[in-house]
Amino acid sequence: MGQKRGRGAAHVITAFLSLVVTAAMMAAGRSEAGATSSYVRTPGKSEDMPADADVFAVPPGYNAPQQGSLKGDAVIISWITVDEPGSSVVHYGTSQQTLNYTAKGKYTTYKYYNYTSGYIHHTTIRKLKYDTKYYYAVGVDHTVRTFWFTTPPEVGPDVPYTFGLIGDLGQTFDSNTTLSHYDSNPNAQTVLYLGDLSYADNFQDQVKWDRWGQFIERNAAYQPWIWTAGNHEIEFLPKWGEIEPFKSYSHRFHVPYKASNSTAPFWYSIKRASAYIIVLASYSAYGKYTPQYQWLSDELKKVNKSETPWLIVLMHAPFYNSYNYHYMEGESMRVMFEQWFVESKVDLVFAGHVHAYERSFSVSNIAYNITNGECSPIADQSAPVYITVGDGGNIEGLANNMTEPQPSYSAFREASFGHAILEIKNRTHAYYTWHRNQDGNAVAADSTWFYSRT
Ligand SMILES: *[C@@H]1O[C@H](CO)[C@@H](O)[C@H](O)[C@H]1NC(C)=O
Ligand SMILES: *[C@@H]1O[C@H](CO)[C@@H](O)[C@H](O)[C@H]1NC(C)=O
Ligand SMILES: *[C@@H]1O[C@H](CO)[C@@H](O)[C@H](O)[C@H]1NC(C)=O
Ligand SMILES: *[C@@H]1O[C@H](CO)[C@@H](O)[C@H](O)[C@H]1NC(C)=O
Ligand SMILES: *[C@@H]1O[C@H](CO)[C@@H](O)[C@H](O)[C@H]1NC(C)=O
Ligand SMILES: *[C@@H]1O[C@H](CO)[C@@H](O)[C@H](O)[C@H]1NC(C)=O
Ligand SMILES: *[C@@H]1O[C@H](CO)[C@@H](O)[C@H](O)[C@H]1NC(C)=O
Ligand SMILES: *[C@@H]1O[C@H](CO)[C@@H](O)[C@H](O)[C@H]1NC(C)=O
Repeated sequence: MGQKRGRGAAHVITAFLSLVVTAAMMAAGRSEAGATSSYVRTPGKSEDMPADADVFAVPPGYNAPQQGSLKGDAVIISWITVDEPGSSVVHYGTSQQTLNYTAKGKYTTYKYYNYTSGYIHHTTIRKLKYDTKYYYAVGVDHTVRTFWFTTPPEVGPDVPYTFGLIGDLGQTFDSNTTLSHYDSNPNAQTVLYLGDLSYADNFQDQVKWDRWGQFIERNAAYQPWIWTAGNHEIEFLPKWGEIEPFKSYSHRFHVPYKASNSTAPFWYSIKRASAYIIVLASYSAYGKYTPQYQWLSDELKKVNKSETPWLIVLMHAPFYNSYNYHYMEGESMRVMFEQWFVESKVDLVFAGHVHAYERSFSVSNIAYNITNGECSPIADQSAPVYITVGDGGNIEGLANNMTEPQPSYSAFREASFGHAILEIKNRTHAYYTWHRNQDGNAVAADSTWFYSRT
């Protein structure tokens, strides 16, 4: 948090230094065939929760702040007022009774076809102490609402940290189950969100964005959500005169992209505990010479695995996907970046998009050069593991049609809604679990240890 921490990667020194630790290299299941879960979820369409559902209830009071959320490494506090702009000031402090610090932000609004947004406030709080609980109040001129968050520990190679992984959430009853299960995990500290948020675009109804903000507030006002843009955020609708991609998304969700020297909010990085998190944009240009390509090329050189042994990449469209949905949509980005992931010792790549769950072995497919015919993924201990967690529970339902036989790169797959948890223990070990909604948090339907690549 705060500038001291070196928000994003801005303060990382360029170079590699290997740790003197022998990683056990994703041994789990390496030589075994992959598994397709025998669990078959009862089919049935996911249904959006009705507009008057409890989760969408707006807080009472004149100009009451709603849709509160925290974002990114710098603690950007965001909320919306509807009656009038009101104040963009946040009062905060380490005791609930003494909110004796103040930060002032700005508000913005946008129009989308016949919809006009409320006043969307974004206020950044800086210079916070590590590992400290802060209380904060917004709506300080009219209806005051108070929340709290805990700042992360100082960045360091053995600092434990627990991330939640949620993708393609939407706002159905299944979405509510996913969020409730995640919410009930007392250890999870930050959500790594894998794109496709509200699914407002399925209805061309921007009010769905407001409902979604209200829906996630019960978690997002208390812990940071690190955002990745998905295809449902594009909202490109020329027939209605809407030609600015990501308009709602970029007005509503701010990320600290400038801190990592990015020139656009769709690709950026943060450092958190022992992890270096790189967020990529599946729907912004990434070909050679483009801003994102240039940025990633520079960014990967800044990663120092002795300081942050866990290098994690987030994106929306997966590179490895053995479902008959969105098949090969991540392929062009894979061709551009997979070699870099292998060379830079990326540990884990998380994606959403496919409404199901899948975990790969450590694999790579980087030998092909158009004349040699080597175009199949191979087991590769020096490559990342790829995980799809696009199963938050949205209105479009599950992807349950898989390619057969299960490809050799695929370690485990199941078409159920759920979420995942990554518990980083220290510089070498992280315990990873995936929880299907039918079982909640109590059962790990898939679990494995990951060993960081050095
Ligand atoms: C959503 O989940 C919360 C927490 O479990 C529960 O209190 C609420 O009633 C649920 N709402 C709907 C509409 O299912
Ligand atoms: C704010 O209050 C805390 C006690 O809650 C105190 O330690 C701190 O010094 C105060 N800071 C300022 C600037 O008043
Ligand atoms: C906006 O336009 C859509 C499509 O024509 C319509 O369904 C909706 O009711 C309109 N909303 C408002 C606020 O006028
Ligand atoms: C930020 O990006 C610019 C333009 O690509 C580059 O000139 C500069 O060196 C970068 N700064 C850092 C700290 O990486
Ligand atoms: C990498 O990080 C380690 C641990 O913080 C530090 O000792 C080392 O100097 C860094 N390497 C470079 C090249 O900056
Ligand atoms: C393609 O790969 C093969 C085998 O690795 C190698 O012999 C050949 O030189 C490569 N061709 C080019 C154009 O790089
Ligand atoms: C699954 O997808 C394949 C390939 O698109 C298609 O041929 C097949 O009919 C689908 N099966 C079902 C049950 O929908
Ligand atoms: C790292 O964590 C793992 C799992 O908790 C533990 O077995 C191992 O001893 C730890 N390593 C160190 C150096 O503490």
